Parts: sequence; structure tokens; C-alpha cells
Amino acid sequence: MPWTRRHLLTIEELSLAEIDQIHATAAAFKKILGRNVKKVPALRGKTIVNLFLEPSTRTRMAFDMAAKRLSADVISLDGASSSTTKGETLRDTAQNIQALNADLIVLRHAASGSPLYLSRILNIPVVNAGDGAHEHPTQGLLDTFTMRERLGDLRGRKVTILGDILFSRVARSNIHALTKMGAAVTLCGPSTLVPGWFTDLGVTVSHDLKSALADAEVVMLLRIQHERQSAGHFPSLGEYTSMFGLNKTRASWLHPKAIIMHPGPINRGVEIDSDLADGERSVILEQVTNGIAVRMAVLYLCFGGQPESVAVVD
Ligand code: CP
Repeated sequence: MPWTRRHLLTIEELSLAEIDQIHATAAAFKKILGRNVKKVPALRGKTIVNLFLEPSTRTRMAFDMAAKRLSADVISLDGASSSTTKGETLRDTAQNIQALNADLIVLRHAASGSPLYLSRILNIPVVNAGDGAHEHPTQGLLDTFTMRERLGDLRGRKVTILGDILFSRVARSNIHALTKMGAAVTLCGPSTLVPGWFTDLGVTVSHDLKSALADAEVVMLLRIQHERQSAGHFPSLGEYTSMFGLNKTRASWLHPKAIIMHPGPINRGVEIDSDLADGERSVILEQVTNGIAVRMAVLYLCFGGQPESVAVVD
């Protein structure tokens, strides 16, 4: 099946076959990234603009590195240094970037649906790098890529996502990816942050930490998204940690071979203890590394590349 999408907006709209294609393409690029010469000419002559109107370390740098490894020219613009601070709209900003002959925009924005909006008014591909509490598709793709590398087939595997689910775009993208891949997903956290209606997405909701962690082969921690909360959803961070923070005792409830994941940024001592974040079961930095190959795959495919042609890009 050929790849046909120009934009990557959500995981919700992807089929399992498309997720498999992105992962296969990322695996091929990961091999290239292991060589002495890591750069391929696949996107030579293309200009990619990283338009990040919300803060980012990992995603922005990984998109930047991915574009450079593919030989594209890349320009990054953040909110604080852009004319959005003078009142320019997203529409005008994006149309001006297109008028400057950019070939693709990677967008991070606080408004859910903003990448979809741009995809409808621009003539160039748009890649979602996180839109409000809606989706963070490349994070979900790199997380599931990392799980597949570690565990193989995810069908029937228990994956527990723990923390602030309500405001997490990472959780939504992972839920869509994992349920398509047949994983048994459990969401856990305070009832204010993990409402029961999430079961509509085909997952289990639990407010009991011990049963949520029991025999899980993957636990993914999420930080509390202060920036998206307008009201207190629990009494204090200390109380959250005492009820739901992952520590050594609680980690002993997991499957003996369980991996510990976190999309970052980590709030050490809040959702996870430092010794676990840095411990041998943690794959947190592997996730970051895999983010480059996965984003290379997404950029390559959105520019019309085909999964099977990665072998001949250099
Ligand atoms: N995981 C993630 O999106 O991290 P950044 O906010 O640093 O990009």
C-alpha cells in the first residue's frame, strides 16, 4: 500500500497499516543514524519551518535534527521572537511563512485543532508537533516504536498510563496508537484527571494504583500539565505524589520485565522518583533518541517518500 498522506495531524485518523509504515520507515532511518555518515540527501532543496508557539526542548530539537539528517534546510521560529507577540494571527503567520517559500510547516500550538486549520488554508504539508490537549502524534509514534523495539508485538500487552490524562495530548495519541495495535491500555490517576468517559476510547480506567500497575509490561508516567489546568484538580503536588507518584515500592508491583517510560519533561520527585527515572528499567532517553528516526520518517513520507524506498535514498 503506497503512503498517500501529505499532512500528519493525528494518530486517531491513521490506520494500523499506516502506523506500521511509519515505524518501518523509522527503523530504516535508525539504521542510517547508526552509521558514521548519518546524513542522506532525501530532502535536499526543501525548506522546513519549525513553528513552535509553545515551549519545547525534545520535539523541536528532534524535528530540527531530523530535517538536517535528511539534508533539508530548517528554520525554527518560537512564539517569543515572532510577530505573534505583536498580535499577528496564526493564519497570517503561516501564510507569510508559505509566501517565503517554505515547503512544510511543523506546528506546535496551544490551540487544539490548529494544525488541521493550517492544513486547510495552506498548500504545503503540515505536521502536528502538539496541539493543546488534543494530540502529539509524533510522540505517540516514537513511544510505540520504542515499545515495539523492547517488547515486540504489542497485542495483549498491558500498558498503564499514569498521571494527568485529562490534559495530556501525549496520552490521547498513545491511546489511539496502542488500541489500534491491540494493547490492553489502563489509565490511572485521580478521578479528576482520569474521568470515566475515557473508557469510550477502548481503555480501562482505574483509580486504584496497585491494580493498575499489577503485571503491567509498560508504565508511562505523565507530568501534571499546570499550563492547561484552570482549576485545582487535586489538593497539592505533594498529595498527588503520595497517592500516585511512582516509587521503588510501587514499581515492584509491575511485571518483572516492565519498562518505565516518560515523554518528558520530567518533574523528578513528583510523578516519578529519580532513581527510577535513571534506573535500568527506564527507557526515557531511548524514547528521545527514537524521536529523531520517527520524525525523519514522518517528514520523508509527508514529502511523498515511500517506506520501501528509504534503502535507496543515499
Ligand atoms: N515530549 C515533549 O513534547 O517534550 P517537549 O515539550 O520538550 O518537546
